[in-house]
Amino acid sequence: MFSTPYPFVFLAFTLILSLPLIFILMPHFLPPKHVQISLSDELDDLTLFRRAILASSSSSSSSFPSFLHRQSSISKPKIAFLFLIDSDIHFSPLWELFFHNHHNLFNVYIHGDPSRKIPLTGIFSGREIVSRPTERGSPTLISAERRLLATALIDDPLNMYFALISPSCIPLHSFPYIYRILFPAPIPRLHKMISFIEIIANETIFPERYNARGKDVMVPEVPYHKFRGGSQFFVLARNHALMVIQDHRLWRKFRLPCINWDSCYPEEHYFSTLLSMEDPAGCSHFTLTRVNWTGSFEGHPHTYKQHDISPELIYHLRQSNSTHEYLFARKFSPDCLSRLMNISETDLSLLFKDESQTLRYMAPKSCV
Ligand SMILES: *[C@@H]1O[C@H](CO)[C@@H](O)[C@H](O)[C@H]1NC(C)=O
Ligand SMILES: *[C@@H]1O[C@H](CO)[C@@H](O)[C@H](O)[C@H]1NC(C)=O
Ligand SMILES: *[C@@H]1O[C@H](CO)[C@@H](O)[C@H](O)[C@H]1NC(C)=O
Ligand SMILES: *[C@@H]1O[C@H](CO)[C@@H](O)[C@H](O)[C@H]1NC(C)=O
Repeated sequence: MFSTPYPFVFLAFTLILSLPLIFILMPHFLPPKHVQISLSDELDDLTLFRRAILASSSSSSSSFPSFLHRQSSISKPKIAFLFLIDSDIHFSPLWELFFHNHHNLFNVYIHGDPSRKIPLTGIFSGREIVSRPTERGSPTLISAERRLLATALIDDPLNMYFALISPSCIPLHSFPYIYRILFPAPIPRLHKMISFIEIIANETIFPERYNARGKDVMVPEVPYHKFRGGSQFFVLARNHALMVIQDHRLWRKFRLPCINWDSCYPEEHYFSTLLSMEDPAGCSHFTLTRVNWTGSFEGHPHTYKQHDISPELIYHLRQSNSTHEYLFARKFSPDCLSRLMNISETDLSLLFKDESQTLRYMAPKSCV
């Protein structure tokens, strides 16, 4: 017969058994702990930025000779692809295919999550820069992007464009096509190269975003009528990349911790605001990275799944209302890889053959 002569033993057992559970569940009950930028991280960044500024002032000027010699293969300008990741690069086989045979025309830089060992192979191996923890909707993402820009500026004076990429981004065109869009012949002088960055003023949510660090904290550096926003995903020209890492004034404001975390997202405002203040005429005001905000959820845009992937979708996502077609798109779930590879290897040679032969050229529409 089973009786419970020692109820307290049971109680003790239950308690002991539930202890790990408490530890597992605790983070969900406590308010989330936000990643802070320490003073020493900030100083390390400043040192990196100074090195980049110094390196750039000694190696380049507006009459950088390589621009004039596009035909000479040693001095062709390059695109720096800045991968800001906190997970595996799901589409690395696709990117390998994209970059295949264009090795002297690009560089890859990766800012990862230092607390996670993310396997990096092929063109990605050994390309991780000095990285620090980041958190969505916090100034840590701006820091990470500035570190990527600075490292790429130092690493190769031929890096002339800097394209920010996330693990859920894919290219919509072949490398040669994208290269020709960014470096049309004749290649413009350094100070004439424009940056492709979205710059939008006074959207309905902007007053809340502006005050997310507290009321009136942004003035006098950033009065509301100069506050801008846009997609986090940009392609910056070298002179603007340099401008971004030289900035202290706006960074001092945008780095302030958020009070209202639900509507902070400083990474969607810092770059647009800074470049719109410093050189509005030098920016496209639109982004080259397509994103579908229809039916967005908790600030995340629509994520394309495997069954969505078709050549028609790729054609459709390229179309834009601005001067250029979209060159990249997001977000795609990891399971899209096999279909994307299939499309790029077989069907229409859609993604990665030189499209001058395989695709009808879509005439640019006028800028709106
Ligand atoms: C922002 O938009 C609102 C209404 O849409 C308007 O009342 C306000 O004057 C605008 N502010 C600025 C600085 O343009
Ligand atoms: C955008 O996402 C919605 C679902 O949220 C979908 O119905 C629509 O087809 C998508 N648009 C494009 C252009 O893919
Ligand atoms: C282009 O503009 C039209 C009309 O405003 C809009 O319906 C369409 O969604 C836009 N296309 C893109 C790709 O933004
Ligand atoms: C790849 O594409 C071909 C032809 O379109 C199709 O028959 C095949 O099922 C596809 N494979 C995958 C894995 O999607």
